[in-house]
Amino acid sequence: TKPNIDQTAMLVKTYACQRRTPLKHHNSFLTEALEILSQNAEYNDNEGRSVAFRRAASVLKALPHRVKNMEDLRSLPCLGDHSQRVIKEILEDGSSREVESTRQSDQFQAMKALTGIFGVGVRTADRWFREGLRSPDDLVRTGQQLNRAQQAGVQYYDDLQKPVTKAEADVISDIVEKAVRAVLPGAEIRLMGGFRRGKDVGHDVDFLITHPEEGKEEGLMPKITNWLEEQGLLLYEKTTRNSYLEKMDGPARAPNNMDRFERCFSIFKLQTGSETERAVRVDLVVSPYSQFAFATLGWTGSKLFERELRRWAGQEKHMSLSSHALYDSKQNLYLRAKTEEEIFAFLDLEFIPPSERNA
Ligand code: GTP
Ligand code: MN
Ligand code: MN
Repeated sequence: TKPNIDQTAMLVKTYACQRRTPLKHHNSFLTEALEILSQNAEYNDNEGRSVAFRRAASVLKALPHRVKNMEDLRSLPCLGDHSQRVIKEILEDGSSREVESTRQSDQFQAMKALTGIFGVGVRTADRWFREGLRSPDDLVRTGQQLNRAQQAGVQYYDDLQKPVTKAEADVISDIVEKAVRAVLPGAEIRLMGGFRRGKDVGHDVDFLITHPEEGKEEGLMPKITNWLEEQGLLLYEKTTRNSYLEKMDGPARAPNNMDRFERCFSIFKLQTGSETERAVRVDLVVSPYSQFAFATLGWTGSKLFERELRRWAGQEKHMSLSSHALYDSKQNLYLRAKTEEEIFAFLDLEFIPPSERNA
C-alpha cells in the first residue's frame, strides 16, 4: 500500500546527505521564500540563521508531494518555529509579509547586486552599502578602489549575470579538454558543480582535472592557463598553488569548506556567434589522483549537501571529511578511497547519486 503523507514525512531523514533531493521538486513556492530569508541572514552575517532556513527549505525539496497544509509538516525534521510561521502564512495568504518586505528592501537588493559582482564578498558589499553605494555603476561613478578580480567583475558584470546554459558549458568543456590534452596527455577531466548534478543552467562551469600517474599533475595549472591565454580565450585568471599537506591539514585542522588544491578562478571569452562573444566564469581545480574521489565528492555540491556531509562525518561518525581526505578519529587513520561510493560506505551512508544531491 502507498504510504500516506504522514508516513512519508516520518521517513525524511535529518541530514541532507541522508536524503535524495532531486533538482525539480514540488515545493518551490515555499523553498524560494525560505531561501530569500536564508540569503538575507547571510547578508547580515548571521550564519546560524542562514543555515537554519536553508535546511528547512532543503527538507521541503525532498518531499514527494506539494505541501498543502500544516498537517503535512508534522514529523518533518529541521523546521524551526520561524520557518513554520513563514510556511503557514504562505499556505494561508499566498505570500509571507516578511519575505516580501525583505525582497523589496533597499539593503537586500543592494547586497544582491554588490555580492553578485565577481570578487566581492559579503563584508566588502556591506561596507559599500553602508557608504551609500548600491550597484556596480555606483562603484565606477565614485571611483572605488577595486582589486583585479573586482575590476573584472565590474567590467563583465552584465555577461556574468546571465545564466550559463548547458550548451555553453559543453562548448567550454571541449575547450578545456583540448587545452589539457595539449599540455598533459592522459589527464582526466570531469565536469563538476551544478552541471554534474544535472542542472541546465549555472552561474559558472566547474572542472576537476587529474592524472592517473600521481605527480604528473603538479604544476599543471600554469600550463593550462598559458595555453588558453595564447589562444586568446582568457579574460581573467587567478591561479593559486596547491598547499595541501596531510600532516598539517589533516585531523588537527578545523573542518572548512575551502580546500587547498591548485586551482584557477577564471573568466573565459566564449564565442557565441560569428561576431558575438560573452564572458563566462570558469573554475578549474587540479587534484592528485589519490585524492580524486574526495575532490569529486567535494566539488559536486550542492553547498548544503557538502556541509551536511561534513557535519554528519563529524557529529555522527567522529570522522573529518574534506575535499582531500577522510580521517577517522577513533581509529586515528586516513581512510583511502578510489570512488565516491567507497566514501559514502565509510560514512555509513546510502550512496546518493549526483542528480539527487540538489539539497
Ligand atoms: P552554480 O555554479 O551556481 O550552478 O552552482 P554550483 O553548485 O556549481 O556552485 P559552485 O560553482 O559555487 O560550487 C560548486 C561546488 O564546489 C559546490 O559544491 C561547492 O561547495 C564547491 N566549492 C566551491 N568552492 C569551493 C572551495 O573553495 N573548496 C571546496 N572544497 N569546494 C568548493
Ligand atoms: Mn558551479
Ligand atoms: Mn564554481
